Amino acid sequence: MNLRKKPLLQKSGGAGKEIFFYGDFKFRPAKIKKIVAENPKVKSFYLKHASTKLPHPGQFVMVWLPGSEEVPMSISDAGADFIRISVAKEGPTTAKFHKLKRDDMLFVRGPFGNSFSLEDSSYLLVCGGCGAAPLIYAAKTISRKGKRCTYLAGAKNQSEFLFLDEARRTGAKVHVATEDGSAGHRGLVTDRMEKLLEKKHFDSILTCGPEQMMYGVVKDGTSRGIRVQASLERYMKCGFGICGSCVLDPTGLRVCVDGPVFDGALLLKTKFGKQKRDACGSRVGI
Ligand SMILES: Cc1cc2nc3c(=O)[nH]c(=O)nc-3n(C[C@H](O)[C@H](O)[C@H](O)COP(=O)(O)OP(=O)(O)OC[C@H]3O[C@@H](n4cnc5c(N)ncnc54)[C@H](O)[C@@H]3O)c2cc1C
Ligand code: FES
Repeated sequence: MNLRKKPLLQKSGGAGKEIFFYGDFKFRPAKIKKIVAENPKVKSFYLKHASTKLPHPGQFVMVWLPGSEEVPMSISDAGADFIRISVAKEGPTTAKFHKLKRDDMLFVRGPFGNSFSLEDSSYLLVCGGCGAAPLIYAAKTISRKGKRCTYLAGAKNQSEFLFLDEARRTGAKVHVATEDGSAGHRGLVTDRMEKLLEKKHFDSILTCGPEQMMYGVVKDGTSRGIRVQASLERYMKCGFGICGSCVLDPTGLRVCVDGPVFDGALLLKTKFGKQKRDACGSRVGI
């Protein structure tokens, strides 16, 4: 191969829009087709994204708005001509996303990462906060495959829930837990999960949300002999395996390319739930 004809780092675009891309990992302009306010903190963006292959549940995209940082976002739904991302307003970049309007442009790389394995017959999906994003897409896929799905969501109060009606429309049984008791079980989602597992058998558990919550889900599920798959949200810079910012100590596994979905049994051999890397690459407690 003549590398000079195919440089790794290229510039493309025109009319004042220069797009840098690395090999096949190029940014694609993605026009915003629709915006839905899901709750006071989260907006869903339907992005025009033509692809011959649907992304797999659990995969994520790196999203960039010129002038801001590039951030990882799970795919919360997808079709032949769109992907949906559901963005919580957390800091400077996501605040700028929340100001965008229909027909504005974002730039997207990906989809990246592995995905949930959906070969079992019955699933319990346990989510907290924006962890609902990859799980609602998983719920739709599970339903399309004709398998059983229970969707359990936890939040501080009922205004924070995401996609409950959407989950019901997939045919999933929905349970909720709130810390202030404003809806469903009063207390932690992990306590509600424990009660569900005492009554009902599930082949597999999928989880995404705050890492301490997922740690509880993984410990409880695996101790009962149930396979748990957890989708991790770690600090990411490159999104394709070269910077090491998302490493899972001490294994060297990188969340962006080896994950974001990991088997619970493997995670329990790591610093999962206890330690992660910050923006500088330093180890910090969770
Ligand atoms: C695989 C993956 C999937 C994600 N999916 C979603 C999603 O569907 N919806 C959603 O709202 N958020 C998601 N996130 C988290 C999202 O990327 C951060 O909230 C976002 O980067 C915050 O950027 P900010 O500048 O607005 O806030 P900041 O003030 O910079 O950060 C707010 C919080 O987000 C974390 N964060 C900041 N930058 C990054 C980064 N580059 N990578 C990971 N975490 C970061 C910080 O540690 C901090 O805890 C996902 C993260 C990962 C790794
Ligand atoms: S984000 Fe760079 S290695 Fe994972």
